[in-house]
Amino acid sequence: MKHGRDYRRSHLGPESWAKDYDAKLFSPGSFDALLWQREQQLLDRILQQHVPGRDSYLDFACGTGRVLAHVEPHFRQAVGLDISETMLAVAKQRVRTTALVEGDATRDPMVLGGQQFDFITAFRFFLNAQPSLREEAMGFIASALKNEQSRLLFNVHGNRYSTRMLVAAKAGLTREQFASMSVSECIELAARHGLEVVEWYGIGSYDKALLRLMPLSAWRWAERVAALPKHLSVYLYFVCRRGRR
Ligand SMILES: C[S@@+](CC[C@H](N)C(=O)[O-])C[C@H]1O[C@@H](n2cnc3c(N)ncnc32)[C@H](O)[C@@H]1O
Repeated sequence: MKHGRDYRRSHLGPESWAKDYDAKLFSPGSFDALLWQREQQLLDRILQQHVPGRDSYLDFACGTGRVLAHVEPHFRQAVGLDISETMLAVAKQRVRTTALVEGDATRDPMVLGGQQFDFITAFRFFLNAQPSLREEAMGFIASALKNEQSRLLFNVHGNRYSTRMLVAAKAGLTREQFASMSVSECIELAARHGLEVVEWYGIGSYDKALLRLMPLSAWRWAERVAALPKHLSVYLYFVCRRGRR
């Protein structure tokens, strides 16, 4: 994702990423489908340990409804917000009770009527969003947390200090665009908007790009027997609350 381009446009229109998002990325047996299994386990754990309020839930940049469909049964009311009509059309087939809203809260903060939530998720958004959009999105999300017990869970699917460094080195040589964020960058992004990270997690020691060098079975084996500490995980997950003033 080029930071010269506006990430808002990345999934718009029938010929965009939306077309193949689930079929290509999350097809059964794929790397991302395996990762998603682990993410679902983590989500369940986080809901149990960190989210006491179960009234309202927002999935920011919900895309095709992957996270929404998993989380919606835990809440009385769920909302999915995304800028892309085509991504939302897929989500519509997937969710049961969620209200889907097309809009851009970074430009129209009242797009959800000022509603606040007990739990907000934002998956696979911040890494590829350009820096200004990251700030605008985090600002909106922080304002949409209901109270001190409310939680935000956001992820960044490319830790700078992980096996992704190997991919970064190659991208540097071939001048490919390549996004990454460090743990401290993520924590600071949240802090600039008054959010405190109460816990963070890491999944996946070996970057997806390494699958070009090793089969998926070898990746699964390496993840089992040679998992690296969370600081070096490729996929990062941050649970945040409003900071104490
Ligand atoms: C990589 S997809 C992730 C979808 C979903 N969260 C998931 O993890 O499967 C990123 C999504 O961000 C959405 N997006 C980009 N800019 C946005 C904005 N300003 N407000 C809401 N959604 C936005 C895109 O339309 C796209 O659906």
